[in-house]
Parts: sequence; C-alpha cells; structure tokens
Amino acid sequence: MNINKYHILIITFFVCCTTFSFAHEGATGIIKERMDKFKESKAIMREINKSFANKDFKKIQNGAIKLNKWGLEMGNFFPEGSNTFPSEANENIWLEPDQFKLAIDNFAKASKSLLKISLDKDLDKTIQAFRTVAGTCKGCHKKFRN
Ligand code: HEC
Repeated sequence: MNINKYHILIITFFVCCTTFSFAHEGATGIIKERMDKFKESKAIMREINKSFANKDFKKIQNGAIKLNKWGLEMGNFFPEGSNTFPSEANENIWLEPDQFKLAIDNFAKASKSLLKISLDKDLDKTIQAFRTVAGTCKGCHKKFRN
C-alpha cells in the first residue's frame, strides 16, 4: 500500500515537471501567445459589431486601436517553423514571407483606417471600414491558416 502511494507521488512529480518545462519552451509559448491574441481579435470584432446598434463610436475606436497595435507587432509572433501541433499556421507563412507580410500590413492599415473613419462618426462609412478589416482577417486565413 505504502509503496503504491510512493509510486504515484513520483509519477505525479514527473508529469507535473515535464508539462511545466514544455509550457515554457519557446515554440509552444509563442504559439499560445499568438492564439490568445487572435482570440482577443475575434472578441474585439464582436464588440465592434455590437457597438453599431447604439453608435458607441468610443468603443469602436478603442477596438480599432487594439487591433492596429496587434497588426504592428504580429510579424514578431511567427518565428520560422513555429507551426507544430496544435498550431494551425500554414507553412506558406515562411515559404512566401513577403506575401505574409503584405497580409499583415493590409490588416494593420485597415484597422488604422477604421479608427480614422470612426472619428467622423458616420455609421455607414464606419461599417464599411469594419467590413474591410474583416476582409483582411479572412484573406489572411485563406492562405496562411490551415
Ligand atoms: C496576416 C495574417 C492574419 C490576419 C490578418 C489575421 N489572422 Fe487570425 N490567424 C492567422 C494564423 C496564421 C492563425 C493560426 C495561428 C496558429 O494556430 O498558430 C490565426 C488564427 C486565428 C484564430 C484561432 C485562434 C486559436 O485559438 O486557435 C482566430 C479566432 C483568428 N485567427 C481570428 C482573427 C481575426 C478576428 C482577425 C482580424 C481581426 C485575424 N484573425 C486576422 C493569421 C491571421
């Protein structure tokens, strides 16, 4: 009985510690970080979409600022070969780096444009600019996400 308990303790220790070191390994870390960023983008897009109903331009602007900030740093979150499980990053990212960079730029520019246009508080134009941003998400996913 005692020996069994002792074994379980050792096994638990090993499971804990290997998981711990994996979680701190470079590739796993950056993949998780960018996945979190993308999840946040999705939440921001939802928030903006909801804000049209009550014309909450302040919220739209805050969202656009966050998206733009992410667009400006996104390129740093894709070190070569960081598409191991469970990443959905497509290898085209590293085979066509210029095209990937362009897709990031399009997103950064579209979010900046959304911010600028929303300052005028013209709902139709703001919705149009929002759709352009959504188009840059989709455009990139089509080519660079599995
Ligand atoms: C320049 C390319 C690019 C742009 C722009 C882009 N994405 Fe992505 N997105 C990716 C890639 C690549 C992945 C896969 C990342 C991975 O799994 O390593 C991804 C993954 C995601 C995921 C899944 C995250 C997860 O937990 O697995 C969501 C949600 C997402 N993107 C939403 C968005 C939204 C919303 C936008 C626009 C506001 C956007 N993305 C813009 C390339 C892009």
